[in-house]
Amino acid sequence: MKVFISNFRVNEPVDTALMVAEKRLVPFRDQAKGRYLALVLVDRTGQIEGRAWENAEELANGCEVGDVIQVTGVVEEYREVRQLRLTSLRRLTESEIDLGEFLAVTPRDRQAMEERLDALIASVRHPGLRALLTAFFGDPQFRRAYSEAPAAKRVHHNYLGGLLEHSLEVAELVEAVARFAPEAEGGLNRDLALTGALLHDIGKVREYRYRPLIDLTDEGKLLGHTVLGCAMVRERAAALGPEVVAPEVVLELEHLLLTHHGELEWGAPVLPQTVEAAALHYADLLSGRVKQYQQVAAGASPGEGGGRIAGLWSPYDGVLGRSLYLGQR
Ligand SMILES: [Fe+2]
Ligand SMILES: [Fe+2]
Repeated sequence: MKVFISNFRVNEPVDTALMVAEKRLVPFRDQAKGRYLALVLVDRTGQIEGRAWENAEELANGCEVGDVIQVTGVVEEYREVRQLRLTSLRRLTESEIDLGEFLAVTPRDRQAMEERLDALIASVRHPGLRALLTAFFGDPQFRRAYSEAPAAKRVHHNYLGGLLEHSLEVAELVEAVARFAPEAEGGLNRDLALTGALLHDIGKVREYRYRPLIDLTDEGKLLGHTVLGCAMVRERAAALGPEVVAPEVVLELEHLLLTHHGELEWGAPVLPQTVEAAALHYADLLSGRVKQYQQVAAGASPGEGGGRIAGLWSPYDGVLGRSLYLGQR
């Protein structure tokens, strides 16, 4: 059973799963003794130093940063800092891991979100767009990455499942817009807008890594998720061939991905030039901004604790540049 770091007690034995955040082999002061293993181990409640004084090299070979390991040891206190003296460790396989024990997760029901995703895909009538969506979401590896990824490092939807949650919100919003601005009246091509909504941030599965912590990858930093996502769409469409998804449809979809940030200074290489692109941009902004207010009002990002100051006001938020009034809630 999982025991959380926040519940560790000094002098008590531990046998639980922890994620490796740092790993070093450090020489003993007496160099003849070789090296000891120094780990930083984390779960969603905190972190603790791990030390293995014996069999260090062997234990070090058994884990890498980002791995979840089953550890046994004893909690000790050294200079008033708790540390875990390790006696054994074993790398756990993906099926043995519940990532939610180590990182903050979406407050929504993942299963229900996946079902909604499938229902939205099934509602797309355009055969090319549906084939493209099926190519993405029928690929188990992509699907897992999409439903597990965070939508951000900070600011909004910055937890596991955040990308799926945010993408569904954007999809529901463009659906609503397509109802009051239908294609027959010069409004949205609903299938195109919906496909764009579900795919607009797919580049984030490559932009972020989240083990041991949510952070940007090298290609995330160098290319960014709009360009990465556009390349992913182009690749899948090319694999299906022009007879399945027409090049002019792919072009408009790529336009949606590249313009969803809306403004050049917000990272869009070109400005929205179709009604679907305009709707997608505002839907994306709305989903992100409302969630940002929600998270600030809740006191802090999930997993960070937090709370209120002076009763009626949230802590000051640097990104919004203000505290939020919480009223009598
Ligand atoms: Fe985005
Ligand atoms: Fe987005």
